[in-house]
Amino acid sequence: MKGKFITFEGSEGSGKSTQIELTCKHLKANKKQILFVREPGGVKISEKIRDILLDVKNTNMSDECETLLYMAARAQLVKEVILPALRQGKIVLCDRFLDSTIAYQGYGNGVDVDKIKKIGDFATNSIKPDLTIIFDIDTAKGLSRTSRIKDRIEQRTIAYHKRVRKGYLELAKKESKRIRLITVNKSIEDIQAIVKQHVDKLLKI
Ligand code: TMP
Repeated sequence: MKGKFITFEGSEGSGKSTQIELTCKHLKANKKQILFVREPGGVKISEKIRDILLDVKNTNMSDECETLLYMAARAQLVKEVILPALRQGKIVLCDRFLDSTIAYQGYGNGVDVDKIKKIGDFATNSIKPDLTIIFDIDTAKGLSRTSRIKDRIEQRTIAYHKRVRKGYLELAKKESKRIRLITVNKSIEDIQAIVKQHVDKLLKI
């Protein structure tokens, strides 16, 4: 694959979106061809699946259904835009990817992580990020930074979100080559400086 694939991860309220936005600006300023997408969503079909996943009215959604819908949204996004962009040599920045399913549905809901990885391999055409940045924040602090109107996942208990955080921390330990963990206890500018270091190293900027 000619392009590079960078994913951004983190629990609720980690400031991930702000950092991605700044990173996109940085890469554009360096004349890089980028594609930015978010998960779940990014293309029409996947955005429709996102609506189902985050709708607070879907109280009785099973863990299996939830896992597969995240994967279905991902499969469509990968086939429709991520793979073509990587083949064209673009830098793809993705707000969440398979690690989110491992953290939220695996560690959070208790779905078997090996099964998630197997289904994930099918859904993603076996593509793996070249670099993943996880933003780590204290769970209570992060949740207090989310908007007051909460979606179906944000509404879950603090215990659930603590398990998600633990999942991310374990992933970062297990896959230390691919994953960079950034603790969110600094200013936006200081955090962006660290993000840039990792991204620039990968892209040789
Ligand atoms: P967002 O708030 O970052 O846009 O993500 C939407 C929500 O979906 C967020 O609460 C995390 C959750 N999520 C999962 O539970 N599993 C996944 O695989 C993905 C991509 C997101």
